[in-house]
Amino acid sequence: MSSPTETPETPGTLGVPGPARGGAPAATTRPALRVSGLTTTFERGGRQVLAVRGVDLDVAPGESLVLLGESGSGKSVTIRSILRLYGSSARHSGSVVLGEQDLMSLDAAAVRAVRGRTLAMVPQDPNGSLDPLRPVGRQLEQVLRLHGVAADRRAARARALELLALVGIPGPARVAGSHPHELSGGMRQRVAIAIAVACDPVVLLADEPTTALDVTVQSQILDLFGDLRERLGTALLLVTHDVSVAADVADRVAVMYAGSVVEEGPAREVLENPRHPYTQALLDAVPRPTSVRGHLKAIPGSPPVAGARFDGCSFAERCALAQPSCRAQAPALLPVAEGHRAACPVANPGVAA
Ligand SMILES: Nc1ncnc2c1ncn2[C@@H]1O[C@H](COP(=O)(O)OP(=O)(O)OP(=O)(O)O)[C@@H](O)[C@H]1O
Ligand SMILES: [Mg+2]
Repeated sequence: MSSPTETPETPGTLGVPGPARGGAPAATTRPALRVSGLTTTFERGGRQVLAVRGVDLDVAPGESLVLLGESGSGKSVTIRSILRLYGSSARHSGSVVLGEQDLMSLDAAAVRAVRGRTLAMVPQDPNGSLDPLRPVGRQLEQVLRLHGVAADRRAARARALELLALVGIPGPARVAGSHPHELSGGMRQRVAIAIAVACDPVVLLADEPTTALDVTVQSQILDLFGDLRERLGTALLLVTHDVSVAADVADRVAVMYAGSVVEEGPAREVLENPRHPYTQALLDAVPRPTSVRGHLKAIPGSPPVAGARFDGCSFAERCALAQPSCRAQAPALLPVAEGHRAACPVANPGVAA
């Protein structure tokens, strides 16, 4: 894997067939992205708001990891923190290691060189990221030139058309000359994805990338992520509150609650055999045609307010299994099965002993 600051002018490999970085991640493969002990604190009205509380995440090359959780659980803050998008408006601790580089130790200019190139983001709503006044092809060409992926205008144009075709846009030449408002929502999101993969990133981050789209287009875009991972070997870290999206795209799932990951593991394991009471409640609250978990149950109570402080488990107040010990000490994420960890010693006493 190349380090962005060491080889800033190396062209991407898009469109060039070759060995993918992806495929089934071997146990010994070094992660493409390793997040360790990430915390994010905002200051709001003179109060410190701890929004992300010591998150650990590993994404293997070519793997898709889905961050799943309810509104306000800290999913967006986590991926925006990984991208260092808050600048001086947030304080962080922990590390975000991409290849061999800890993004938390880089200055703002070095982070900008990584962002959009080695680590790229697909927006929730492409309308916010595309310039309404310029043809989309030009916008794509600009990104390619900016990151030194295309040497001149002609190369940029050729690569832009290649990228539009790669993301499944029919008639790339016609679309390249279109302004965003002339395209459907799905096409605009494809353009935004083309921009995100323009520099052949090692990891693609996507925050609820399909919520602005209607259902049929949503599934096409999710299929496109699968296709891009296969063809480019790009790892994917995708955020969603939607269990069906997680089931569709995830190799692994990390479940967030109140700023912490409470369970993570292979998607099937986590979604079919959840070990944390919060994950169980979350899945019980979701209508699923194939559900074998019986009637839908709302999770009693409500999530803690932003930045609330806990001595113990953040879910204890809503948890039917909670013991006095749960309120005394924060539970660690401990292995409950191969590659599967949960932060609940009460639900998993054998493993926690
Ligand atoms: N810039 C900010 N300043 C202060 N607090 C913030 C800021 N951004 C987010 N928060 C707080 O951090 C918490 C987590 O927010 P976040 O946006 O990550 O939730 P989320 O899981 O992405 O939810 P949703 O599914 O609604 O997008 C919330 O309580 C939110 O109010
Ligand atoms: Mg969010």
